[in-house]
Amino acid sequence: VVGVSQVGSESVWRTANTASIQRVFTQENGYFLIFDNARQKQENQIKAIRSFIASDVDVISFCPIVETGWDTVLQEAKDAGIPVVLVDRGVTADPSLYVTHIFADALKEGANAFNWVDEYMTAEGKTPRAGGDQFQVAILEGTVGSSVAADRLQGFTDAMAESPNSGKYNVICSQTGEYTRAKGMEVMESFLKSDGDKIDILFSCNGDMALGAIQAIEAAGLKPGEDIVIVSIDAAKGEFNAMIEGKMNCAVEHTPNFGETLMETAKKIVAGEEVPATIELEEGIFPADIAEQE
Ligand code: AHR
Repeated sequence: VVGVSQVGSESVWRTANTASIQRVFTQENGYFLIFDNARQKQENQIKAIRSFIASDVDVISFCPIVETGWDTVLQEAKDAGIPVVLVDRGVTADPSLYVTHIFADALKEGANAFNWVDEYMTAEGKTPRAGGDQFQVAILEGTVGSSVAADRLQGFTDAMAESPNSGKYNVICSQTGEYTRAKGMEVMESFLKSDGDKIDILFSCNGDMALGAIQAIEAAGLKPGEDIVIVSIDAAKGEFNAMIEGKMNCAVEHTPNFGETLMETAKKIVAGEEVPATIELEEGIFPADIAEQE
């Protein structure tokens, strides 16, 4: 019996992630899954984890919406002798309170996004739209307080600071779009109102926000993918379609496919086998020129 607490259903990535988990924990595979959707609220996740403990499940797994505030409930699970596996996002709690964290490296994703843009701007001979010698960068950040939002932003800005071209870039606006398409569109509209004639690059910390931003950019009479170079993280189907239409330039993968690894890990834990403290999933980078083929 496995209890899984999911963050919510904010993005197509999240839908794919939920499907990947529900696909493996089936009766045919020997599992009974208790699945809870926390609808973007940490208190709902904590409530779900407490009910998994009360039900004496064999393994608890959850994707923590934010990094902090888990110590007490993780201690309760540990005291009850129930192993916990974190998936996707991380926590600040002591690692002794959970067995392992299955993750994809969000710091690396942010760095990959910047390094790709840096090479692209040079290779394409791009020049700043508003003149001068600096490209103006807009950033749509993810859920405030989540590990992936903080790491992607840090990975991107650290890579920018470390680049030999660092002086060529300036972050002109950066705000959360809460990982949703609607909020991504709304925040991009406000970026365009203040800096629409200057923005050269959009770094969107997920795919849904990038798609919302593309709508806002088109509504403002600009060409997404040309006037504004767009790189996003997730690499879901909508981003591929946008790249095929020439409206986006690159998608850095954040795989949603945690299900198989989570199931194998849960199996080992229940069998009393050792598992590593962290398990990293591999990911790729998909520029527009290979989107159609991919
Ligand atoms: O935690 C992973 C992130 O959450 C995904 O990149 C984003 O699309 C989702 O909402």
